[in-house]
Amino acid sequence: MSNPSPTRILAIDDDPAMLTLFRAVLGKPCAGREPERLRMCVDTALSGAEGLELFRRAHCADRPYAIAFVDLVMPGMNGIETANRLWAVDPSLLVVRVTASEKALRMAELAVFEESDRLLSLHKPLHPVELRQVARFLDQRKRAEDALQRRTVELNERIEEMRRLQAELAQAQRLEAIGQLAAGIAHEINTPTQYIGDNTLFLGDAFRVVVRVFESVERLLACDGPAPAELLEQARAAARTADLPFLAEEIPRAVEQSLEGIGCVAEIVRAMKEFSHPGAESKVAVDLNRAVASTLTVCRNEWKYVADLTTDFDPALPPVPCLPGELNQAILNIVINAAHAIAEKVAEGDSKGAITVRTRRRGNAAEIHIEDTGTGIPQHLQPKIFDLFFTTKTVGRGTGQGLTMARSIIVEKHGGALSFHSEPGKGTAFIVLLPLEPAANQPVAGNGEHHDTCHETHCLAG
Ligand SMILES: Nc1ncnc2c1ncn2[C@@H]1O[C@H](COP(=O)(O)OP(=O)(O)OP(=O)(O)O)[C@@H](O)[C@H]1O
Ligand SMILES: [Mg+2]
Repeated sequence: MSNPSPTRILAIDDDPAMLTLFRAVLGKPCAGREPERLRMCVDTALSGAEGLELFRRAHCADRPYAIAFVDLVMPGMNGIETANRLWAVDPSLLVVRVTASEKALRMAELAVFEESDRLLSLHKPLHPVELRQVARFLDQRKRAEDALQRRTVELNERIEEMRRLQAELAQAQRLEAIGQLAAGIAHEINTPTQYIGDNTLFLGDAFRVVVRVFESVERLLACDGPAPAELLEQARAAARTADLPFLAEEIPRAVEQSLEGIGCVAEIVRAMKEFSHPGAESKVAVDLNRAVASTLTVCRNEWKYVADLTTDFDPALPPVPCLPGELNQAILNIVINAAHAIAEKVAEGDSKGAITVRTRRRGNAAEIHIEDTGTGIPQHLQPKIFDLFFTTKTVGRGTGQGLTMARSIIVEKHGGALSFHSEPGKGTAFIVLLPLEPAANQPVAGNGEHHDTCHETHCLAG
């Protein structure tokens, strides 16, 4: 696509005859009523100072010159200085130095001048054909450069737009994942709530029946002397209807079940509170076992249909300095990945899998070991799993952010280490190491003893 605006040329020479030649060969003045249909137009100046002034004004008016022909030997500002000052205003200017003799210039000046890749040389006397050829060549180069620059800007804008869209999409998918987790929690709370409700209804009915028995007994007790047969019969009927042996057995059971249900709901609510830890911006000493247990509770709905969960917590584990909300999020991502990997196998016909979560002290670090019997990670994908947006899951199930986030939290924010080993078809284990001493804040070495092919990611900053 051709640019309709003409290429603006500035010719600077102290010889008026030369300027006449430039105008005759290269076109009309740009400064006059500009003939837009021309490909090129030329303005002229008799000295470096005059040329610089014209050049500056055109640059400020956003009508820059693309090419300058500069006589090398001129009184006042010579061609080298003129060109350097023009470049100071616009480094993209293409300069053609025109000279009959370079003797008047110092070689050192010339050497510096000739370093530029935006410079051509022409020797006087100029032949009109030669002049036109050089001008056309430079015009084409300039247009190509402008087109390339426009394209680069356009591409950068597109890349920026794509990044924005990608971030928006990721955010939307993240929200969807949070929604899913919330739906799971709602489901978890719903089951005990339902049987608490049923039991409470039963207890209400039972209470009304028992009250009726007591009322008839009360009426009997209120009689002075022997009770009338009618009242006695009423009391017997009330006791029969109530089925007291049944109630004696079922009421305590209903109370026990309801308390259990309330305990479940309370546990989920406590886990949710502990999981989210709003506002903890600096590290606090955390009971890691409890934090992990809360996280497992919050996502129970994600794993309970596909896996049996076993926990093996080290009771002697000392408190670990953590950002609890963030650490829980990292553990959650790893556990959900484990559940997904097992679900994939279950979908292919396998029976329920297993997730094992272990905590241990390892020297100066606390270790959380999360192991699953899922699909495993194919060898060729193992180096990629921490890459942002790398996912093998379908849209809506994964965004490829979980492990990137987990690594950033564990390695960068806690100075810990995150590694894994995986056997395709058999399962995967992720190992989180967290330093126990916040002050030392040394990166923790990964536990190499576990694996032949251990992928590890450490804190670089220390
Ligand atoms: N325990 C695992 N078993 C098998 N593959 C896994 C396991 N953990 C991670 N992966 C692989 O690593 C990929 C990246 O995991 P990551 O958690 O970063 O993203 P995701 O789970 O796909 O999406 P999300 O952003 O929802 O977490 C997964 O898509 C999966 O292929
Ligand atoms: Mg994930």
